[in-house]
Amino acid sequence: MMTEKSNVSARKTIRVGLIGHQFMGIAHSNAFRNAAAMYPVPCKVEMTAVCAQDTPENLQAFADKFGWQSIETDWQKLVARKDIDLISVAAPGFLHKPIVLEALKHGKHVLCEKPLANNLADAAEMAAAALKAGVRHCCGYSYRSTPAQALAQRFVQEGKIGRIYQVHARYAQDWIVDPNFAMVWRFDKAKAGSGSLGDICAHSIDATRFITGLEFTEVIGNLVTLIGERPLDGKNPNGPKGKVTVDDVAQFLCRFNNGATGCFEATRFATGRKNHNCIEINGEKGSLYWDFEEQNYLYYYDRTRPAPEQGFSKINATQDAHPYGGGPWPVGHGIGYGDTFMIEIANFLTAIAKGEEFHPDFNDGLAAQKVLDAVERSANERKWVRV
Ligand SMILES: NC(=O)c1ccc[n+]([C@@H]2O[C@H](COP(=O)([O-])OP(=O)(O)OC[C@H]3O[C@@H](n4cnc5c(N)ncnc54)[C@H](O)[C@@H]3O)[C@@H](O)[C@H]2O)c1
Repeated sequence: MMTEKSNVSARKTIRVGLIGHQFMGIAHSNAFRNAAAMYPVPCKVEMTAVCAQDTPENLQAFADKFGWQSIETDWQKLVARKDIDLISVAAPGFLHKPIVLEALKHGKHVLCEKPLANNLADAAEMAAAALKAGVRHCCGYSYRSTPAQALAQRFVQEGKIGRIYQVHARYAQDWIVDPNFAMVWRFDKAKAGSGSLGDICAHSIDATRFITGLEFTEVIGNLVTLIGERPLDGKNPNGPKGKVTVDDVAQFLCRFNNGATGCFEATRFATGRKNHNCIEINGEKGSLYWDFEEQNYLYYYDRTRPAPEQGFSKINATQDAHPYGGGPWPVGHGIGYGDTFMIEIANFLTAIAKGEEFHPDFNDGLAAQKVLDAVERSANERKWVRV
């Protein structure tokens, strides 16, 4: 009889290399460190190396904190390492394509943060290269891994809201309302591809595809830059300025392949809104509403109930019967932002270990990129365009 120990040691080990050590670098590091302990994963994880743009001392301190076994200061060296199976890309958009293509050339599995690329042509090239490489690929649309979004998808698939008539999504933040907030890579089109459109509206687009199964067919967009230049150094607001070359606010109307209609807005200028990532889906038999700021809850309206009982019910989506079973905690205790990455990475590691299909993959990334591209074209041409 196999002992627990021999059972564990017989499991495959997936050796990981991470590029990026700030916002998403921390989210990925936490997830690779803890996913297999907190969620079911049929393999072991080795945190082999981390790379970022920093001094070797700072990078080593980061590696020590999270348990990365070694550091690299050149991403090309990291992706070429023979002791790494999976590359996780948590770097700005302009680096996604070169890193991903090089990693695929070396036969690595790849997790690439969203949006997949800075433009449609690059995203198409990356998706084609991933298919050709025959590896597993993930595009980091992490909000799919919230139990409430997964429950919303289940409800749609079970026909609970019937034919979908309309989708209304708003992703609103306020972190750049201050005109003296300094220039960062996110305000430079060459580095970020777009502004709130690719940064946050991309999540709403993916959530819509994920929950409803609908595809976008036509859009009319409006992209606005509210603050045209920002100080290069936030501590010196009167010093040299840089030009903002991306949208601050992205809005679009759309039509879907079932005839439904949609209304989307993404902004980082919604004073008071911190991470108000919300989506409402209205169907013939009911409606669904979710807001990340109450991420553990799904609001469900059932129009088939007797009229006196009708109203939105607020479902705590972290019970045993729900997707991901509420994580490692007892029924209804809830989970947090870090868990979405643990769930995403646990699912991705599982797909790699078992050789199974995985979503969201680069094709999902490409599908979202087609919508981003159409919104940009439409806003430039000031008319409806096909996706
Ligand atoms: N899934 C999500 O919800 C989510 C949230 C935020 C950001 N993102 C995406 O994650 C990606 C990274 O965003 P972020 O917020 O972590 O950015 P960030 O600015 O916080 O971090 C960028 C990281 O990239 C590293 N880097 C930059 N140039 C490099 C180079 N030449 N070689 C190696 N490393 C380099 C930096 O050192 C830094 O660690 C973006 O694509 C962004 O859209 C996804």
